[in-house]
Amino acid sequence: MPKHIVRLILLMVAFGAIGYAAKVFFTADSFYKYGHYRAASVPEIAAQEPVYQTPRYCQTCHSERHAQWSANNHKTVTCETCHGAAKGHPQSGKLPIPSDAVKLCTLCHEAMPGRPRTQPQIQVAQHNPYASSGQQCTACHNPHAPKIVAVVAIVAGDAAAGAKKHAASCAACHGAKGISPNDTWPNLAGQHAAYLVRILAAYKSGAQKDVAMTPLAQALSDAEIQNLAAYYASLSCDGAPGAARIGDVAAGKALAKNCTACHGETGITSNPAWPKLAAQKAEYLVNALKAFRAGLRKDPTMAGVTRGLSDGDIANLAAYYAAQNCQAVTVGGKTQ
Ligand code: HEC
Ligand code: HEC
Ligand code: HEC
Ligand code: HEC
Ligand code: HEC
Ligand code: HEC
Repeated sequence: MPKHIVRLILLMVAFGAIGYAAKVFFTADSFYKYGHYRAASVPEIAAQEPVYQTPRYCQTCHSERHAQWSANNHKTVTCETCHGAAKGHPQSGKLPIPSDAVKLCTLCHEAMPGRPRTQPQIQVAQHNPYASSGQQCTACHNPHAPKIVAVVAIVAGDAAAGAKKHAASCAACHGAKGISPNDTWPNLAGQHAAYLVRILAAYKSGAQKDVAMTPLAQALSDAEIQNLAAYYASLSCDGAPGAARIGDVAAGKALAKNCTACHGETGITSNPAWPKLAAQKAEYLVNALKAFRAGLRKDPTMAGVTRGLSDGDIANLAAYYAAQNCQAVTVGGKTQ
């Protein structure tokens, strides 16, 4: 046989083989069962048990998580969108916890032309620049309560009246000028007034509990809270001791990159609803972080942030913030 005829036959055999392989791989098995009349499959599919349950199913056992989720923005995203189908759970095993949050969250939130503006969008490279080095979206966002809210209380207090009240009821523990003499009691000098109003209101309402502060705050009127907040915000934090006796400042600095977006590079946030951390008492910071982690102090954002921190991480972070200068505001590496 001439060579070109052999090649032609080989080519036809090869095409035949590819065609057969494609038929085997790419045709759905059910095609052979029902042929072109696929409607015959409907009763069989309808008889299958649903693999997806509903968020209400999760509520019975994960009530706290469900309550947090249903009170927040992601209530339109069902549990199983992120955790997978729950058929058989919990009997046949745990549901997966998404390990790559960047991949999960950008599915819906990466900015794209044509994506409806009603869906909040971010430019990932700018919003989460450390994503490529492993920083997860969940470092800052609680997936069950993702919105980072800043409730700014209007502060219209009278600092002079606040000073009198302070001297009478608070100076013993928080120091004559708002610098506490004890490492577990927080400094108040120079703290954001809006944050102070919010936190004192939280002690008063019982949303935040502390043996010392709860009864004291319950005795304060709303006007007194505003006055005290105005007074502390007007004080200089100068003189706050910055030496850390616990933890490692350098290790804390490395961890603190997860906190920068909200607390600023050196613990001085520009958002008045959030607390300044710079030069705060180290032991107090440790206690606060542990309270968030244990759920004793309830803030959905800080609960998510602290979940993965070890005791050692917490001591290092506390050492870092305690050692910062409380007066210089650093934004993007520049002191302002
Ligand atoms: C009948 C009770 C029950 C229901 C209903 C239930 N779960 Fe669970 N779930 C459990 C138990 C028990 C565990 C195992 C907890 C453990 O071992 O820490 C678990 C574990 C999980 C975990 C893994 C937690 C971890 O720390 O590893 C996830 C995620 C989860 N459930 C999500 C869901 C979702 C989503 C639903 C609703 C579709 C749901 N569960 C419904 C009882 C339930
Ligand atoms: C937008 C995606 C998303 C939705 C919706 C969601 N989860 Fe989660 N869930 C996550 C991620 C991500 C984690 C891991 C948290 C982390 O790493 O901080 C998680 C963690 C969990 C855990 C185990 C870890 C823990 O925090 O103890 C449980 C249990 C859980 N989710 C249950 C639920 C239930 C129940 C619902 C619905 C009411 C729900 N989730 C809705 C993304 C989601
Ligand atoms: C299946 C799509 C989907 C996934 C996955 C998802 N989200 Fe969302 N997310 C939404 C939608 C839709 C809204 C808006 C809900 C509303 O307020 O109407 C939202 C709201 C938010 C908001 C509030 C924005 C604002 O300012 O109102 C944040 C923050 C957020 N998501 C972060 C995350 C993070 C972090 C993850 C990953 C753990 C994630 N989302 C996963 C769909 C998704
Ligand atoms: C270092 C902390 C941090 C990390 C990490 C982070 N975010 Fe955010 N995110 C914030 C803060 C703070 C805001 C509120 C900013 C504002 O109001 O301008 C926010 C706002 C958002 C919003 C609302 C934007 C809007 O226009 O309403 C979305 C959506 C969002 N983040 C998604 C994500 C996703 C997805 C990831 C992971 C790829 C992520 N975030 C990682 C801190 C973070
Ligand atoms: C007996 C000592 C004591 C007295 C008196 C006291 N405090 Fe406190 N205060 C504390 C302790 C301890 C904490 C930390 C509580 C915690 O860990 O939640 C605290 C926390 C605070 C905080 C929260 C600070 C932050 O950074 O979150 C504010 C604000 C505050 N006190 C204001 C006051 C005011 C105003 C008074 C006077 C009416 C007062 N305190 C009287 C011991 C005291
Ligand atoms: C997405 C924003 C956000 C991020 C990221 C964040 N925080 Fe916070 N932090 C807050 C808010 C909001 C509060 C106030 C909570 C409250 O009112 O109880 C807070 C409170 C605190 C407090 C209590 C301060 C006081 O005076 O009582 C400490 C300590 C703290 N954060 C440390 C950290 C550390 C350490 C990190 C990084 C590992 C971090 N935060 C990351 C938002 C954030």
